[in-house]
Amino acid sequence: MGGVQLYTRSAGEGLPVVLLHAFPLSSAMWLAQREGLADVCKVITPDLRGFGGSVLGEDEPSLDVMADDVARLLDREGIDRAVVGGLSMGGYVTMTLCRRHPDRLLGVILADTKASADPEEARSGRERIADDVLREGTSVLVEKVLPGLLGRTTLERRAMVSGRVRGLVQAAHPVAVAWAQRAMAARPDSFDTLRALDAPVLVIVGEEDEIAPVAVADAMAEAAPDGRLAVIEKAGHLSAIEQPEAFNRAVSAFVAELGGGSPRR
Ligand code: MLT
Repeated sequence: MGGVQLYTRSAGEGLPVVLLHAFPLSSAMWLAQREGLADVCKVITPDLRGFGGSVLGEDEPSLDVMADDVARLLDREGIDRAVVGGLSMGGYVTMTLCRRHPDRLLGVILADTKASADPEEARSGRERIADDVLREGTSVLVEKVLPGLLGRTTLERRAMVSGRVRGLVQAAHPVAVAWAQRAMAARPDSFDTLRALDAPVLVIVGEEDEIAPVAVADAMAEAAPDGRLAVIEKAGHLSAIEQPEAFNRAVSAFVAELGGGSPRR
């Protein structure tokens, strides 16, 4: 397989934990995880193709190629098996990796994401966004995507966090945004993948997430044979950015369960 080489930021030592970012962000979103988890595990945060420092490549839009990029990153790092997790789009890529490369997984983290495929209406919405972004640039995302990403607590009380996320959204490249929208639109239902998983699964969700709400996360944790759920208070869809300490506590407890570091208090 060809694929692209993912630009990656890493921190820490020990059990490898790969974290895949949300749409339309980059590995910059995991700053607080690289800082806060480096003393319990090796945090590896790639930019998915087309975002941050990674090129888009020539492939047709598909989560399969994104998952294969991550498997190749593990090869490059000399890592046989890792905990792999992702938030929202990163979660879709993680579930695709579970389907295509199940032998690479020590554990799985699915944050603020959905195992179901898009209904028809959502698929055509994505096509509209792809067209609009290619025509008008990322201001379309600030108008149509940004408002749903943050929870009401962050929107009401944390202007610094909203401003940071806005900056990350504006930095996305329109061609990559359109490509990723089309890749996500084509994704299949992943509930059977979750039911067949051998590895332990941690599902995390912000209690104010309206894109992938708590009931959706609960169903995913139930579907996995070895699933557990962590609900993050006062966080919306970007729980890792909105409440990083609570997010990191959930990840570090999971890593400790898997024999990694000791859980943070
Ligand atoms: C994300 O945060 O990655 C997006 O909400 C994913 C999506 O558009 O389904």
